[in-house]
Amino acid sequence: MKINRKKASLKVLADSLLAKFGEILKSEDFSADLPKKWEKHGDLLLLPESCFTLEIWCEIDESDLWQVVADHFGVSRVAKKGRICSDGIRSPQVVLMKGDDPWVSHVDNKIKYCYDVTKCMFSAGNITEKLRMAKLDCAGEVVVDMFAGIGYFTLPLLVHAKAKHVHACEWNPNAVRSLKRNLRENKVLDRCTVYEGDNRDVCPKGIGDRVIMGLIPNAMNSIEAACRSLKCGGVLHIHHNVESNVKQQDNSYERSHTVSNPLENTHTLDCCETEPGFSCNKTRVLPEWVSWAYKTASTVRHVMDQIHEQHRDASRFRTRILHIEKVKSYAPHVDHMVLDLRIDVHDES
Ligand SMILES: C[S@@+](CC[C@H](N)C(=O)[O-])C[C@H]1O[C@@H](n2cnc3c(N)ncnc32)[C@H](O)[C@@H]1O
Repeated sequence: MKINRKKASLKVLADSLLAKFGEILKSEDFSADLPKKWEKHGDLLLLPESCFTLEIWCEIDESDLWQVVADHFGVSRVAKKGRICSDGIRSPQVVLMKGDDPWVSHVDNKIKYCYDVTKCMFSAGNITEKLRMAKLDCAGEVVVDMFAGIGYFTLPLLVHAKAKHVHACEWNPNAVRSLKRNLRENKVLDRCTVYEGDNRDVCPKGIGDRVIMGLIPNAMNSIEAACRSLKCGGVLHIHHNVESNVKQQDNSYERSHTVSNPLENTHTLDCCETEPGFSCNKTRVLPEWVSWAYKTASTVRHVMDQIHEQHRDASRFRTRILHIEKVKSYAPHVDHMVLDLRIDVHDES
């Protein structure tokens, strides 16, 4: 027989709550108000906003209630989150329900991340992309991380990919505090320069071999700063939430490793300067992903031409789509994608 462990665990929690607060809870069906998912950050349990919403919980002494929850999950601190704020700095709305210290630490792929859960977000869903960045060979490379956060990509690039130096931009002072602490804890502080502020103002120019643009839904507001930060070409990793048209999904095509001629499967693309042939981590490639990749490549080429004062009809730059990566499904028909794009100067000869 298959046991649903989460359901079984919630039944145990419901029983513990009834055992302790039976007098108050007996008349209420509260089982649907218990958490169906949660995150553990070290010894801190982070609950979603959708649980413990019934009025009846207010009748119970708060510290007693959270003690039962903490005991059940084997943690010493409990926090509850709301939606990530759309304030540009992605501050999470997290409130500590039990415990006073909001700092948590967490080891992931041998890297230690410390952060204040009430002030910084931890993108647990981007684990595959962190691992992919960690596997790059960046020896001798200077990398620019335009949206460094607490170091989600900066740290794997320094610790595992062996980047020579990372220039990390971040405008949330709380994330900057965590980032600096994490660089110190992981002993890579000497190979990173942190720029606090809007990357469009503070990002250094003409130094990068590789640029990470890790912001969803869209990092393109900073594309000019990203292109300016490159030497005279290099590789961009551009994150984007790509929407797919449900009706057209049947048009997706199966591929093995390399999309040999994606132009056959897409339309209305301004892609004449982008070489075909790239890889994708999924066998089912949606035309919207390909379309987005080609449009972005075209935009990047035009931005590079403008920066280097090249006339549009004689592009000096060539873009090559190396890879498109699906990181995760973000919402129904919205995929978090990353485009790996190489930019170099046309060989004039
Ligand atoms: C999604 S979070 C970091 C994500 C990380 N790269 C990942 O995917 O796990 C994006 C970060 O970019 C920062 N940010 C957003 N816009 C920025 C800008 N224009 N300049 C500097 N930092 C910015 C936010 O404060 C936030 O910490």
